[in-house]
Amino acid sequence: MPNFKTKNIAMPNFPIKFGNSEFLYKAICEKNESLLKVSQNGEEFFIQIREKKDVILVKAEKISRPSQVVFAQQALRDFRDLCKCSVIFSNIEPQKEKKKKRYNTIKDIDFFADRFENKKEMWIEIGFGSGRHLLYQAKKHKDIQFVGLEIHKPSIEQVAKQCEIQSIDNISILDYDARLFLEFLGSNSVGKIFVHFPVPWDKKPHRRVISSEFIGESIRVLKPNGTLELRSDSEKYFNYSIEEFLKLNKLNININKNKNLDISSKYEDRWKKQEKDIYDITLKNEEISEEKPKISKIKFNSTYEFKKIVKNFHKIVKNEKDFFLHVEDIFIINENEGLIKISLGASTKNERVYVEFARDKVSYFPDNILETKANMQAHNLLIEWLNELILGKTK
Ligand SMILES: C[S@@+](CC[C@H](N)C(=O)[O-])C[C@H]1O[C@@H](n2cnc3c(N)ncnc32)[C@H](O)[C@@H]1O
Repeated sequence: MPNFKTKNIAMPNFPIKFGNSEFLYKAICEKNESLLKVSQNGEEFFIQIREKKDVILVKAEKISRPSQVVFAQQALRDFRDLCKCSVIFSNIEPQKEKKKKRYNTIKDIDFFADRFENKKEMWIEIGFGSGRHLLYQAKKHKDIQFVGLEIHKPSIEQVAKQCEIQSIDNISILDYDARLFLEFLGSNSVGKIFVHFPVPWDKKPHRRVISSEFIGESIRVLKPNGTLELRSDSEKYFNYSIEEFLKLNKLNININKNKNLDISSKYEDRWKKQEKDIYDITLKNEEISEEKPKISKIKFNSTYEFKKIVKNFHKIVKNEKDFFLHVEDIFIINENEGLIKISLGASTKNERVYVEFARDKVSYFPDNILETKANMQAHNLLIEWLNELILGKTK
């Protein structure tokens, strides 16, 4: 993170333009910490100022970081010169940035929320690991659009690189928890879902990909005759999964043991060498499911009197089964304006964000959050909490 340390800051009044940056406001928190909102190159982000004993640390703030490090470095240099800081350490001078390779195949979740159009039939592989099965299938079925989900970053890079080397253009890769992904997809839109050798999580069963909720969502997104294919070397996981499948008691399920596929994945080879049995459960969907609206972004519909929020503010930590909300800190710009720092969402998909109360508007910053089930539940709880503060309820 770009930062500098200084002995002093001659703080100006805000807003003020200097160099390439516009400093919009300063918001102060109790913990000798403040945030400066900067506008630069069409982007808005925060600079964080932390006062320690006899030194002040000024750095790019993590949650709102701009798309390029050079923007943060420029803003910090402008701030240093504007405030005539006596710098004792800094890493904000322009340097040749090591360019991180960007792969077209790697998408972020907004791509699926906003733009993903299913012209081709979609097949999904969950936890593709080394990608052997995914790459094989994509080369064999060029008329299918594949989506590969993985949370292990080196595997993501490795498979994206292979797509480039082998000129494979029908794979989109996403770094996202598979248990939360299906809710982004339209109903009856997917031909196949592969879950091959998922981590069995014997000691932490709540982390398993397969659950009756996941199977229910799979049925919703699968086309009629579409399949969900689970392959596992773990008898325990197999037995657990059968129970989860049977909870939805209208299913067409096929079970196999030691079935050979055209391609053997890296994990499959390992289990075969150890002469382990391999179990398959294939569910064939027979339903047409109701359509579901696209996931948009959550917005605030009301304004709140910031003065009352400050008066009654208290931190909260709410951990529910499917979502959580932590209200961490409050930052004050002036009597009527400020920020609240929160984290919220599903326990496996943590969003950290600010709620900005400024110019008679309330909004999430740096961006509105996606309207997933977990985010929506946390947002509703936040609204409830804000209303309680306004009414003067302190706990
Ligand atoms: C045992 S490996 C199997 C890899 C590959 N399917 C194979 O057969 O070689 C399980 C993979 O699932 C990924 N994974 C685990 N939980 C996941 C989740 N919730 N969403 C997406 N991927 C997940 C892991 O990172 C890991 O690469």
